[in-house]
Amino acid sequence: INAEVLASDQRYAAIAATEFNSVTAENAMKWESVEPAQGEYDWGQADELVEFAMKNDQAVRGHTQVWHSQMPTWLTAGIKDGDFSRAEVRAIMKNHVVQVTKHFKGKIRQWDVVNEAFNDSGTERHSLWREYLGKDYIANVFRWAHEADPEAKLFYNDFGIEGINPKSDAVYDLLKKLRAGEVPVEGVGLQAHLGTQHPFPDGYEENLKRFADLGLEISLTEVDVRIELPLTSAKVATQTSHYKAILKGCLAVPACNYITLWGFDDRNSWMPGWFDGEGSATPFDAKY
Ligand code: G3I
Repeated sequence: INAEVLASDQRYAAIAATEFNSVTAENAMKWESVEPAQGEYDWGQADELVEFAMKNDQAVRGHTQVWHSQMPTWLTAGIKDGDFSRAEVRAIMKNHVVQVTKHFKGKIRQWDVVNEAFNDSGTERHSLWREYLGKDYIANVFRWAHEADPEAKLFYNDFGIEGINPKSDAVYDLLKKLRAGEVPVEGVGLQAHLGTQHPFPDGYEENLKRFADLGLEISLTEVDVRIELPLTSAKVATQTSHYKAILKGCLAVPACNYITLWGFDDRNSWMPGWFDGEGSATPFDAKY
């Protein structure tokens, strides 16, 4: 859900309220949004979404505490300028996870605690989080989040891990290790940002099953299927078959119990702004 559009477009709000039983903040719960200045919190848009969801009897997916992108510039620039000691950065990072999780305590069904911590090759992504919190940062942030909100189901979320590949293997190995170490991670989020120019991910159902075998819940967290414009009936047919395959695989694996679109309409989708000449990725067109 795009907070600005939700607040200004009645048609959008009506669809969001009636067509879905769960909502996720596209940007409103990210660090740059909730703490625009150090120690100064702005929960406004995020709280509005939580209230909207409660009014419409919807669940809320929290997105996202630990991510290399959309961190506040007071922190990233401050680190670059040497304004903070190593210990201060560590404390700031832990405080972020604790404060955000505490603020929404009891209101979040599933949290994307850690987002996109691996490269496509399966190696660990370098980030300020990894650099300052050290090699066990993922286990620690899950523990901090669980302590702050024991009710929320805590997820690891990533893109490009829908099928069997070096990246999903690395995520699988990490989650297996965390679960063996009693780290409170209960789910894996597969973003499923797909495109009709690419084949459907290889080994999708088998991949869902192996995550399920770890005792994890599985959510498809950011589904969209972009098309290289202009549309043709063949491209739309491929998009249809990709959406169907996403659903079919998820329905075949009981632990896969949650599907979220990343934007439900083509006018407000993030897609065209990020992939030049591509779009039409969502179920509702630009006129809803
Ligand atoms: O809020 C500022 C606004 O003040 C400013 O005027 C405007 C123009 O510079 O930028 C606005 O910030 C934008 C923000 O979205 C809110 O609209 C950022 O520039 C823009 O980069 C940001 O894009 C978001 C993107 O994450 C950032 O990586 C997209 O909306 C959002 O859909 C996208 O979502 C991510 C998920 O969180 C993680 N998975 C991938 C997914 C797609 O990239």
